[in-house]
Amino acid sequence: MRNVLVTGGAGFIGSNFIRYMLAIEPEINIVNLDALTYAGSLENLRDLSSQDRYKFVHGMVGDRSKVDQILRDHAIDTIVHFAAETHVDRSILGPAMFIETNIVGTFELLEAARSYWINESAFSSDQVRFHHISTDEVFGSLGPEDPPFSELTPYAPNSPYAASKAASDHLVRSYGKTYNLPFSITNCSNNYGPYQFPEKLIPLMISNALNGLPLPIYGDGKQIRDWLYVEDHCRAIREVIRKGNPGETYIVGGNTQPTNMLVVQTLCEIMDECLPNSKFVPHESLITHVIDRPGHDRRYAMDISKISTELGWTPKLTLEEGLLKTVQWYLENQAWVEAISNQADYQEWLSRNYIQRGGQK
Ligand code: NAD
Ligand code: TYD
Repeated sequence: MRNVLVTGGAGFIGSNFIRYMLAIEPEINIVNLDALTYAGSLENLRDLSSQDRYKFVHGMVGDRSKVDQILRDHAIDTIVHFAAETHVDRSILGPAMFIETNIVGTFELLEAARSYWINESAFSSDQVRFHHISTDEVFGSLGPEDPPFSELTPYAPNSPYAASKAASDHLVRSYGKTYNLPFSITNCSNNYGPYQFPEKLIPLMISNALNGLPLPIYGDGKQIRDWLYVEDHCRAIREVIRKGNPGETYIVGGNTQPTNMLVVQTLCEIMDECLPNSKFVPHESLITHVIDRPGHDRRYAMDISKISTELGWTPKLTLEEGLLKTVQWYLENQAWVEAISNQADYQEWLSRNYIQRGGQK
């Protein structure tokens, strides 16, 4: 891992990953290719912009000639592919971009890597790696008694987002089998932490609670997710690229599976403690049930024994520790939240999504 192309590095996990890697790996250079959609912002990487080991390129992963040029100009030996459309609710209202970016974009990126690494023999196969960032959502929903997802769980995606990620996982795997492209895949659970776009559950609840707005719980709120603090995810990705064999996939999760309602209640308690003088204490009184998401997966849970035993990775932060850090970060970075939330199309989307769920404007 010397010259790394990170795609989608201006988004939530990608920006955390770039910051983490530049701090921990003194020898690597990173090129960040990002289309700067509503979810990406250079503000997420402002502190790194003057680093000479970091370079930003504005563009789409599906832009083959641009990707070809980056690979050659920077002698890229490692690709860490985060770029995607990522919000399930948006994929329900408008799936087309999910197909375009997550499936076609991944295909173009794979083709570029195959052409440079394999057809042109730019490197030997033990020098390169295509690491694909995926999600637990590809496995569908667990029943109450089902064992947690493992690397052997069959794919059964339920949302257009999950289906597009499943398709991209299969494409990556097929390039390994068919063309000997050295790859690895991590299927990770729900991340949270600094720089997450406020449409996702945890930052949305923090922002709304701060402003005295309703905290919209989809359906009964008894859906179960596994949650992982973003820096623990970044550490897992690094371990898989460094120590995981090519062709392997790894389940990555936080070993903590609360209901959505419990997550929101815990956040409200933390907000009460951090902001005892707020007129919205107790923040829990802002919780509002709204119409459920269609096809809403009921339960996710992760079996992380493969990555723990093979690579020695386990999450460091408990959910309570991670949520406290996250609330503190959002409270200290209100200007960031306001700037990224003030895009007209986001405000429009937010109210459309809320009203669609039966919420009152
Ligand atoms: P995000 O939505 O915060 O960021 C996505 C980034 O990709 C943005 O910077 C956006 O501008 C960029 N992008 C979108 N389309 C692009 C294109 N065509 N070309 C180049 N860049 C493009 O996403 P995130 O939450 O950081 O997720 C990153 C990856 O991790 C995704 O692949 C996602 O499926 C996966 N993942 C996310 C979670 C989670 O909880 N957030 C969990 C598991 C896996
Ligand atoms: P989300 O953060 O959108 O991630 P994902 O759908 O990828 O898991 O949602 C996490 C969970 O929280 C999911 O079960 C949907 C639920 N949810 C709400 O109840 N209310 C909300 O306003 C949002 C955004 C999500």
